[in-house]
Amino acid sequence: MKILITGSRGLLGYEVGIVCEGQGDTVFRTDIVPPSLQLDITDASAIRGMLSTMKPDWVINCAAYTDVDGCETNEELAYQLNAKAPGNLARACEEVGAKFLHISTDYVFDGSKEVPYTENDETNPTSVYGKSKRAGEIAVLESIEHYSIVRTQWLFGPQGKNFVSTILKIAKDRDKITVVNDQWGSPTYSKDLAKALRLLIDSNAQGVYHVCNRGKATWYDLARKAVELVGLQTEVIPVPTSEYPRPAKRPLNSVLSTRRFTETTGKLMPAWQISLDKYIKEYLMEYRRSNPV
Ligand SMILES: NC(=O)c1ccc[n+]([C@@H]2O[C@H](COP(=O)([O-])OP(=O)(O)OC[C@H]3O[C@@H](n4cnc5c(N)ncnc54)[C@H](OP(=O)(O)O)[C@@H]3O)[C@@H](O)[C@H]2O)c1
Repeated sequence: MKILITGSRGLLGYEVGIVCEGQGDTVFRTDIVPPSLQLDITDASAIRGMLSTMKPDWVINCAAYTDVDGCETNEELAYQLNAKAPGNLARACEEVGAKFLHISTDYVFDGSKEVPYTENDETNPTSVYGKSKRAGEIAVLESIEHYSIVRTQWLFGPQGKNFVSTILKIAKDRDKITVVNDQWGSPTYSKDLAKALRLLIDSNAQGVYHVCNRGKATWYDLARKAVELVGLQTEVIPVPTSEYPRPAKRPLNSVLSTRRFTETTGKLMPAWQISLDKYIKEYLMEYRRSNPV
């Protein structure tokens, strides 16, 4: 299969490239800057040019403006990247006969539900990031017949900055850290998600899917577990969101139900604790490699 990935230098896109190559796919890795093939997803004619040359079977869009708080002050950029660009990609896919897999987010929900969100639940984003991502979903479904939209959440993984690596960096030099304990989600390993996306492609999946690791946690749970696995003595103190104000409003509960994914692929997502353990082992190996004693 020929697969073109956008945002291939990012946390998720990087892993998607590795998984697809492992499946024997011909992979075109694109991103805004080299060494990937250069493709700016806001440039509709560049997209059309590349897709008509490469003729991929699937395009997986991992590029986005992912700075949730930054979106509050850079609304125009958020809509360019998260709403208009996915529409450009979807239209270009439709023109060349490629299928389109687009990544979206749990932040399309307002977080007021007490049980996991299903794909049929009403969206009601409360931040510019969430609103721009929801507008992107709509642009996709209006522009192409064969699309998959995968909503995910709370990503961690080796490529680039993420909540877990940030917490470990801070905790290393402190006796105590405070972490929010009233927002719930499912921490998700970028490698597990990349495998799941490839499974959805194998299943010729169409429509909206929720994909995240199994089980739920607060940011405090995730931070405490990561600190413990690394063996740091830092005390992790739970605090309410009200004690940690941020520009963008986050959903309080955005746990996603992955039942539809399992029904389609026959696979269960791994529990987040098991995947966090794998990530921390990798993190420690990398840390020791770059900080030899
Ligand atoms: N991270 C999470 O916790 C999370 C949670 C839910 C959903 N998601 C969704 O998952 C997807 C992947 O997220 P991620 O965390 O892997 O993102 P990421 O690490 O920020 O990667 C995004 C990639 O897109 C590139 N990019 C930026 N502007 C571009 C443009 N105009 N054209 C082409 N590429 C461009 C970025 O390059 P630069 O780095 O040079 O800007 C980066 O390499 C996104 O759709 C995101 O909304 C993520």
